[in-house]
Amino acid sequence: MRGVSRDPSPARSRIRSSPGARGRRAGYGAGTVKRHPALVPLSQDHHQALVSALKLRRATAETAADAARAFREHWETGERLHFRIEEEVLLPAFAAHADPDHPVVVQVLLEHVAIRRDADRLASEAPLELLHDLGARLSAHVELEERRLFPLIEETLPEDALVALGERLREAEAEAVAASRHDSATDA
Ligand SMILES: [Fe+2]
Ligand SMILES: [Fe+2]
Repeated sequence: MRGVSRDPSPARSRIRSSPGARGRRAGYGAGTVKRHPALVPLSQDHHQALVSALKLRRATAETAADAARAFREHWETGERLHFRIEEEVLLPAFAAHADPDHPVVVQVLLEHVAIRRDADRLASEAPLELLHDLGARLSAHVELEERRLFPLIEETLPEDALVALGERLREAEAEAVAASRHDSATDA
């Protein structure tokens, strides 16, 4: 969702710069939430997800088609990759230091499945109920990660593991962007 529409490739164009000192303000709840620098990029994604979720929740019969289209663009240009990075990098990093059966981890993964399902549905139909449900689901998911998952990770992982996690998160995004550009060049 970062750099959403400036890059013609499906994945995000922006490779973030290295985060600064520990305790940087994050995108989500900026000004009130202190995040470890490793997690700041994901928190910035969350801010964009909340904007998208609000559009869905406020959709009316007149704006439903536009809201659905905007969400699909948001999904394809960033949110889908955000989910993948959380599943492939973030949660395994937590599981290396704690129980992967932790209820918060289970809840995050279940919500990913439901949101992916709704996002797929939205590609073919846009009933208001689906838009409102998905908007509420996405907002609640961001809250879960910001209020419970991220603090849990910050408390559980030692500092060197958090720094290594931040590096892996950046690499995963860079690889996805490079792969996307390669695909675009191949298709051209
Ligand atoms: Fe998530
Ligand atoms: Fe997330």
